[in-house]
Amino acid sequence: MRLATNTPLDKLLDGGIEDDVITNVYGPAGSGKTNIAIAAAINCSKKVVYLDTEGSFSLERFEQLGGRNLKNIMLINVHAWKEQCEAVAGMEKLAEKGDVGLVVVDSLVALYRLELTDRNYQTINKQLATQYSVLSKIARKFHVPVLVTNQVYSAGDEIELTSRAIAKYWSKALVELRKLEKENVRLAILRKHRSLPEGRKIEFEITGSGMKALGKFSIF
Ligand SMILES: Nc1ncnc2c1ncn2[C@@H]1O[C@H](COP(=O)(O)OP(=O)(O)OP(=O)(O)O)[C@@H](O)[C@H]1O
Ligand SMILES: [Mg+2]
Repeated sequence: MRLATNTPLDKLLDGGIEDDVITNVYGPAGSGKTNIAIAAAINCSKKVVYLDTEGSFSLERFEQLGGRNLKNIMLINVHAWKEQCEAVAGMEKLAEKGDVGLVVVDSLVALYRLELTDRNYQTINKQLATQYSVLSKIARKFHVPVLVTNQVYSAGDEIELTSRAIAKYWSKALVELRKLEKENVRLAILRKHRSLPEGRKIEFEITGSGMKALGKFSIF
């Protein structure tokens, strides 16, 4: 089963994000990760557990994207890595209450990066892996899709490589977003999937009312 996000990602993913697994959308600041997370939440007809770690969820953008009713969205805000660890740990209980159709974490790594130092990185990396394992368990146990976003920073940075390795291990689907030269135009590339070819691409534009595919969809 797949949940349509009502974004051009649906074309890339043959219908939407898969139940039972973590889908990880990663890319630089402004590439459209939060837009996609909000659109997916709006398109979900069941309850959505939505963990916002950066205060990125905007009611205005929610409404612009066609959101009408916040009632279905259990919005959780956290402001520190420790709070995020606790919130993720508590998500299984939340999901147990039933009727959850989607779990979102936007962003999984923003507070992680703020917390990391030369001395604590082993503990913090372990905590990141624990969060992934809890989210993965929720996905399988409740047959829901889990959508996490991951901001990427400078290539080659050691923190980046470690968190990327953890993300790659735990996420069964990886979608990379890139900003193209033209304003508001983005490229989504499928980097990993259980049943679809890697390397699929689609260009899209972020507009006032949503995300619009630009027609350049290529399988190879
Ligand atoms: N009403 C709108 N009309 C057109 N573009 C918009 C509108 N609202 C937001 N955008 C565009 O969306 C982009 C930001 O997307 P988004 O917040 O999803 O990025 P992000 O990948 O989550 O970034 P970050 O890593 O900083 O959280 C910006 O380029 C912004 O111009
Ligand atoms: Mg964002």
